[in-house]
Amino acid sequence: MLIAGNWKMFKRPGEAADFCGSLPGELEGVADGVSVVVAPPFTSLQAAVEALRARPVAVYAQNVHWDREGAYTGEISVDMLQTLGVAGAIVGHSERRQYFGETDETAARRAQTAFEAGLGVIACVGETLEEREAGETEAVLRRQVEAIAVAVPEPDTALAVAYEPVWAIGTGRTATPEIAQEAHAFIRSLYAVDQILYGGSVKPENAEELLAQAHVDGALVGGASLDVHSFVAICRTAARLSRS
Ligand code: PGA
Repeated sequence: MLIAGNWKMFKRPGEAADFCGSLPGELEGVADGVSVVVAPPFTSLQAAVEALRARPVAVYAQNVHWDREGAYTGEISVDMLQTLGVAGAIVGHSERRQYFGETDETAARRAQTAFEAGLGVIACVGETLEEREAGETEAVLRRQVEAIAVAVPEPDTALAVAYEPVWAIGTGRTATPEIAQEAHAFIRSLYAVDQILYGGSVKPENAEELLAQAHVDGALVGGASLDVHSFVAICRTAARLSRS
C-alpha cells in the first residue's frame, strides 16, 4: 500500500522540517507493507528531503514539467527535483486541471518525462460532480487514464494512478467504498498499473473502509495529511490492513 500526503499550498520550510522531523518516530513499526510519501510545496522540498534523509519516507513534488529545461515560467524540471533528492511527483491533480489549464495531454507528458527519468509518479484522474450526474464517469476516466497509458505504456511500481473524484476533494464528502471500488476496478481494466490510490476527503475515520476495498491500494490524502497524527493514523490503518 502507498499512503501519500499532498500538502498543496501549505507549510513553509520550517513547518515542513518540524513535520518531517517527527514523522519517522511517529511511524515506528509502520514500515512493513506501506510506502509513505509526503508532497510539500516546491519551497519546502529541500527542508523535507533534509529532514527525511536516510528515512523510509519519500518526498514527492506536486508537479513537474515535461521538458528537461526551457522558457517555462513557473514550472520546475525533473533535473531540478532530482538534484534536491526529490523521489517523485504528483501529476494531473484536479486542482491543476480546474484552475491552471492542465489537460489530459499535458498531464500525460509530465507523467512520461518523470517516469522515464526514474521519478516516482502519482497520476491523478477523476470526474467532476456534473460529469458523474450526467452518467459520464466512465467516459471521463477512460479518456484521462488512456492518455496516461499511451504516454507510459509499460508502467512499473514507480507509477501509481490516484482516483480522486473532484466532488470529494476538500469537501468532506467521501466516495463510498463501493464507488471507489467500482471506479478502481474500471481503471484497472483499462491500465495495468500496479497501485491505484483513492483520494478525496480521506481521514482517519474513513480510511479503513476505503483501504479495505480489494482494488484500493492506498490513498492520496490532502487536508488530513497536514497534521502528523492524523496522517500517521491513516498510515497505521494501511499497515494493519496490509498485514491482515
Ligand atoms: P483532500 O484532498 O483529502 O483534502 O480531499 C485530496 C487531494 O486533493 O489530493
